[in-house]
Amino acid sequence: MKVTVVGAGAVGATCADNIARKELATELVLLDIKEGIAEGKAQDMMQGAALLGFDTKIVGSTNDYAKTAGSDVVVITSGLPRKPGMTREELIGVNAGIVKGVAENILKHSPDAIIIIISNPMDTMTYLALTATGLPKNRIIGMGGALDSARFRYQLSQHLGCSPADLNAVVVGGHGDTTMIPLIRLATWNSVPVTKFLTEDQQKKIVADTMVGGATLTKLIGTSAWYAPGAAGAAMVESIVRDEKKLFTCCVKLEGEYGQKDICLGVPVILGRSGWEKILDFGLNEAEQAEFNKSAAAVRNMNDVLKTL
Ligand code: LAC
Repeated sequence: MKVTVVGAGAVGATCADNIARKELATELVLLDIKEGIAEGKAQDMMQGAALLGFDTKIVGSTNDYAKTAGSDVVVITSGLPRKPGMTREELIGVNAGIVKGVAENILKHSPDAIIIIISNPMDTMTYLALTATGLPKNRIIGMGGALDSARFRYQLSQHLGCSPADLNAVVVGGHGDTTMIPLIRLATWNSVPVTKFLTEDQQKKIVADTMVGGATLTKLIGTSAWYAPGAAGAAMVESIVRDEKKLFTCCVKLEGEYGQKDICLGVPVILGRSGWEKILDFGLNEAEQAEFNKSAAAVRNMNDVLKTL
């Protein structure tokens, strides 16, 4: 199995590190446009192999896409991260050109690759990658919901005093501070609805804190987060390369599911060897569906900006 991570910044490098430690690939290519950075980080990770006991071969490349040839899965993290006070949406102008160029270069050398998009604004970058490449819809998958659902489980665990691993909870909709929808009604703690253990106020706070999870970290750190985003990308790669059929909320092309079409948005999907394999209908209630439609409208506005670039 060969995996490529494009972008050797904090998110890309962390994602690559997780992929190597879990031995999800025999060969892992880390590519960046900046001279030497991917080679340097690849070597740094490889020097940990003797200590961590992994056998994945990590290759760094400065923009030489020939090295990525024959990749089964490619994770695109390229582009600018947001700074404190910025929304993910403000990155569209710069990142659209970068993501389109990267996707095209990747497919020249790995025509069968499954592509995971992490670059922001993630919903629009996923839509752009899909429309620009014309790939079958199952092979382009945006990462947002996988990360936002993990952040939701973290927030829930803090209030419940339990392990995030014992919680099932998903965030659907867009990967934006105001477009994501943590589905607290459906969240469970070992199959019991979490709402049984939380006051209305706690529930509201958990949902609100989840929605600004990324922005809170950007403010604290001074740039966009990377540990959980990198881990989310790697978890998706794992479900694909090992054909695990795990359920993640991912940004995928909708063709009528959840009442939307001609848009990429976060919904529960099964990830396996052929990419996202099916969308699950979680049966949103009226209020949740209204939120979902609002989220879709906001993402659609952002997608329309692509036409003006
Ligand atoms: C975040 C970035 C990866 O939410 O969008 O941290």
